[in-house]
Amino acid sequence: RAQLSDSLFIINGFAREYFTKTLFNTEEGQNIGLSYFEERGFTKETVEKFQLGYCLNTRDAFAKTAISKGYNLEYLQKLGLVTMRYEQPADNYRGRVIFPIHNQSGKILGFGARILGKADKAPKYINSPENEIYYKSRVLYGTYFARHSIDKLDECLLVEGYTDVISLHQAGVENVVASSGTSLTQDQLRLIRKYTNNLTILYDGDAAGVKAALRGLDMAVEEGLNVKVVLIPDKEDPDSYVQKIGADAFRKFIADNKQDFVLFKLQASLLDAGNDLNKKSKLVSEIAETISKINKTEGFTRQQDYIRQSAEILKIDEEGMTQLVNKFIR
Ligand code: CTP
Ligand code: MN
Ligand code: MN
Ligand code: MN
Ligand code: MN
Repeated sequence: RAQLSDSLFIINGFAREYFTKTLFNTEEGQNIGLSYFEERGFTKETVEKFQLGYCLNTRDAFAKTAISKGYNLEYLQKLGLVTMRYEQPADNYRGRVIFPIHNQSGKILGFGARILGKADKAPKYINSPENEIYYKSRVLYGTYFARHSIDKLDECLLVEGYTDVISLHQAGVENVVASSGTSLTQDQLRLIRKYTNNLTILYDGDAAGVKAALRGLDMAVEEGLNVKVVLIPDKEDPDSYVQKIGADAFRKFIADNKQDFVLFKLQASLLDAGNDLNKKSKLVSEIAETISKINKTEGFTRQQDYIRQSAEILKIDEEGMTQLVNKFIR
């Protein structure tokens, strides 16, 4: 007997193919969907690789086709592909570009559907609702495309969004997955740990991104991962930044700016402290205590590195930092 999940995967597979065909083979798909991807700098190969699509801006072109092919209306609704409007089936993603979300073997778990242009009235992305095959908190976007590279490099990059994953792939950086905006979950981290122990967080360079990175790194450290962070420049995200500076420069940027999580935290807290001297001195003391413990776990040379780099970030001299650290060692 076929399982419900089998039926849901089959319907998602059909929808995926339908949206891809709509993108490439209809005038509206080409003029609106493909042009949109082109404007964002995605090549045709990239669009094909990620099986991106487009949903016509009609009331129910997809719903009608799916139903006429015999797909179950209840399942179509469960999957978020079709909604009831005035008691009639209607397309949920109409006029949007489509990002299919693959599981590890390439089957379609769900979709993210992006509005074209600015998201003033409607939400920027409509995502599949949770159902028997799609648990948002357990999914990382891009694992299907990233696994080999994560294996090979023994490192996983974590970004916020669909387009970050896609643009990085196009730039030759393939060991990347996205938490898809949801605050990173313990389940997502466990998934990463199945692939590698080395995580590098590349969140957006806005306040929300830094905050999410801080939260994510605490969770990841708890999960036993070795965590590094790359701070993307303000108002950029990995997608916009790689499109702006190019693939080679971006790869160099990551290599040069990979920061240890302790130092990243220090930098973020320092920004937060601003001119508050009390906060700042408390921070100095806290970091000294953290560094004092590093000798045991990571060795003397690493500890000296931390002292030098944190002194630099705090703009205090190395000698003073060493003394502070030594106070905590007895
Ligand atoms: N997201 C979402 N719903 C929203 C906004 C965001 O599901 N209304 C998720 C998407 O997975 C998105 C991710 O959070 O990819 C990161 O959000 P954001 O940085 O705002 O979007 P971008 O990925 O940068 O998308 P774009 O470049 O298309 O604006
Ligand atoms: Mn990938
Ligand atoms: Mn963001
Ligand atoms: Mn973006
Ligand atoms: Mn973004």
